[in-house]
Amino acid sequence: MIPESFIQDVLARTDIVSLIERYVPLKKGGANYMACCPFHNEKSPSFTVSPTKQFYHCFGCGAHGTAVGFLMEYNGMSFRDAIKDLAQQAGLKVPEDDAPQQDHSQINTLLAVMERAARYFRDQLRVSPKAIAYLKQRGLTGEVAKNFGIGYAPDDWQGLHAALGADYEGAAPLEAGLVIQNDTGRRYDRFRDRVMFPILDQRGNIIGFGGRVIGEGEPKYLNSPETPLFEKGRELYGLFQARQAIRESGVVVVVEGYMDVVALAQFGFGSAVATLGTATTATHIQKLFRQSDKVVFCFDGDNAGRKAARRALEACLDQLGDDREARFLFLPPEHDPDSFIREQGLEAFHRAVHNALPLSEFLLRELRSDLNLGTAEDRSRLVYEAKTLVPKISAPVLQQQIVRMISEDVELPVEAVLAALEIKAPTQARFGNSFGNASGRKAPRQRSPRVAPTGNLRQLLRLLCAYPTLIEKLPGDILELAGDGPVRDILQSFLDIRDTDGFNPTSLAGLYEATSDEARKAILLELLQAPPPKIERDDATVQEFDGLIINLRIALNDHEFSALHQRIMQGELLNPDEMQHYKALTERKQALRSSRTGQNGA
Ligand code: UTP
Ligand code: MN
Repeated sequence: MIPESFIQDVLARTDIVSLIERYVPLKKGGANYMACCPFHNEKSPSFTVSPTKQFYHCFGCGAHGTAVGFLMEYNGMSFRDAIKDLAQQAGLKVPEDDAPQQDHSQINTLLAVMERAARYFRDQLRVSPKAIAYLKQRGLTGEVAKNFGIGYAPDDWQGLHAALGADYEGAAPLEAGLVIQNDTGRRYDRFRDRVMFPILDQRGNIIGFGGRVIGEGEPKYLNSPETPLFEKGRELYGLFQARQAIRESGVVVVVEGYMDVVALAQFGFGSAVATLGTATTATHIQKLFRQSDKVVFCFDGDNAGRKAARRALEACLDQLGDDREARFLFLPPEHDPDSFIREQGLEAFHRAVHNALPLSEFLLRELRSDLNLGTAEDRSRLVYEAKTLVPKISAPVLQQQIVRMISEDVELPVEAVLAALEIKAPTQARFGNSFGNASGRKAPRQRSPRVAPTGNLRQLLRLLCAYPTLIEKLPGDILELAGDGPVRDILQSFLDIRDTDGFNPTSLAGLYEATSDEARKAILLELLQAPPPKIERDDATVQEFDGLIINLRIALNDHEFSALHQRIMQGELLNPDEMQHYKALTERKQALRSSRTGQNGA
């Protein structure tokens, strides 16, 4: 968990305009900046970035968020990584990590050495007729080789010495997995006589390499070991290059090999990524679904491919949603995506992706395989097998459909299958809460929480955000006036920010990211998306502000008054203190009302 105050701190030191500008060219338009939206296809700009609010909003597709949200959506980063990234740029260290300063300089050193190595490999490719001939023979164009930064590690035990000089003997090449040290302390290059595929993270840093043997040899691909930069189970080859295409096509295709990604891109299919010789992990799937609601796993048509598909199926069940789908594409057994697109062309590959097997069908097919549903035993077996998979499905409606399909297969009522799968009333478990309130209403409390008039409070928040200096004018009892509820909590945060960093319009974005409470978040979002206020005379603003405070006082007064009044009407005898309070409330009621008219008339 990153502390809320840190999140606010990071956002306070981030400028969303210069951040987004790095990815999307922005044009000034009035108080805001405009661009064609990077999150949907459009010809005229409806994407706006507000420097005052530190928030972006697209009027076309509704995309919106803070600097953190932008990095998450655009780069597919996790919240944590986005905060880390911004913190780093702002020169802050994430508090929870103990020695991040040192880590950071280590990471940067490793990245730098990877970059130098990659440049060296690219340079070597240009002067190696053998490597060039191999890539040509595999049908790669120079252009695509360049886009993927493909290089060549020459057949030399210490080739990198030339690239790294004295640093060859330092810690970095070893820690980055570029060199290996033998028992006598002598170092040699890990990659020799191989075609080099740099592996990039989502920011485009080189974090590892895959090296393919030229022609035949073992291992066919040699990969970087796990290093502080590179964790195989998290990374997807080609994701950095594919981001734009994924966004435009709305689908991401996961293939098995480096060459598959590169060949697909060369033939015009840019939204493919590859796992790195590992099974698909939950982290992979999280990353994929951050990029696109539709993920298509494309596996070779052989037995290994089917096994890999099964692993992917299992890994994605609990990350599905009724708006997030996974499909499975099985190529003919003799093909991988590389050979398929070369032989059949782009259109055919598009068609194959389009016709990929929906997860539900693949799952059913897996369940039914090797079973003879003509026997009671195998029908039971199917339900038994389903139990390890179907309850995990996190898309409630899809889950029900699959249960129904199973119930048809095994000739049992849906309820019986649900019971056998131990799926507890799926609809209620997941949708119940939003309907449950009517019956589950709590008994009235002795002193019911007072909810202050929302109209006044919301307007007060809007004014504060537009004219932050008004925060100095808030009366000392404002929290009391604000009653109970999310607006009160937001006001409390405003005051906290005022007392620490100083409150200004950009505080809002930080607060938005730091808040996990849904109700508060919704109100903050509304404030962030509110149109910029019309420039008015200062005194009119102050007048409105004062009026709102008076309204809140009247509401509080009325509330207390009617509580006592009701007790009197019910024949209750008030004690002297209460009686005096009742009188005071009655008088104040008058005074407040006339001060409001006086105010309005002024
Ligand atoms: P494949 O054996 O299917 O190779 O491995 P490929 O991708 O078709 O490669 P080409 O076309 O022969 O060049 C699929 C993936 O498995 C990983 C690599 O990521 C490879 O792209 N792999 C394979 C390794 O990591 N090491 C190996 O020795 C073999
Ligand atoms: Mn291949």
